[in-house]
Amino acid sequence: MANSPRILAFSGSARRESLNKKLLAAVVELTRAAGAEVTVVDFKDLPIPLYEGDLEDADGIPANAQKLIDLITQHGGLVIASPEYNSQMTPLLKNVIDWCTRADENPFKGKVAAVVSASPGMFGGIRSMTLARQLLVHLGCHIVPAQCVLPQADKAFDEQGALKEERNRKNAQGVATELVRLTRLLGP
Ligand SMILES: Cc1cc2nc3c(=O)[nH]c(=O)nc-3n(C[C@H](O)[C@H](O)[C@H](O)COP(=O)(O)O)c2cc1C
Repeated sequence: MANSPRILAFSGSARRESLNKKLLAAVVELTRAAGAEVTVVDFKDLPIPLYEGDLEDADGIPANAQKLIDLITQHGGLVIASPEYNSQMTPLLKNVIDWCTRADENPFKGKVAAVVSASPGMFGGIRSMTLARQLLVHLGCHIVPAQCVLPQADKAFDEQGALKEERNRKNAQGVATELVRLTRLLGP
């Protein structure tokens, strides 16, 4: 498709049965249907060590972190699923973002970023989503304001991984549509 924006998708949980990976997959499908090319990264397949200054001094940026930096650079937009641990984003998500900011050039600058969140709890991880958005603003991203937080996410998907409730499908669709529209307009 002409002017297909390129979107990179990843989740702050690498867990095999991750609810955030399921929500991300639903949003990715809708984002592709809205006309984008989407690349999905699973940190189970791209393990990145915990940031530590001595490690960086000794070996530089780890190869997998560099792969993520290159992928972000090659895409105009991002969709990130941000799980919630103790009302914060997960250490995995914070860690991969921290490594990316050690590149010579901040790869996040000017990207369009959507953040979604899923939790078995009643708030759907909204605090984590808000903090992840705040961090991405700090790094120079344009944030997609449309919101998709998924409470009681352990009951939200059918056997095929589709969102059962119309309200949740509409929220996911809203994020996908706006992500594609804004990446076309603003994405580098
Ligand atoms: C250390 C820890 C802290 C958690 N704190 C919260 C929390 O503050 N809010 C919340 O909604 N869920 C919390 N949870 C539950 C997670 O939302 C739940 O485990 C979720 O399934 C994790 O995301 P995932 O399914 O994508 O791996 C916590 C889980 C862990 C392991």
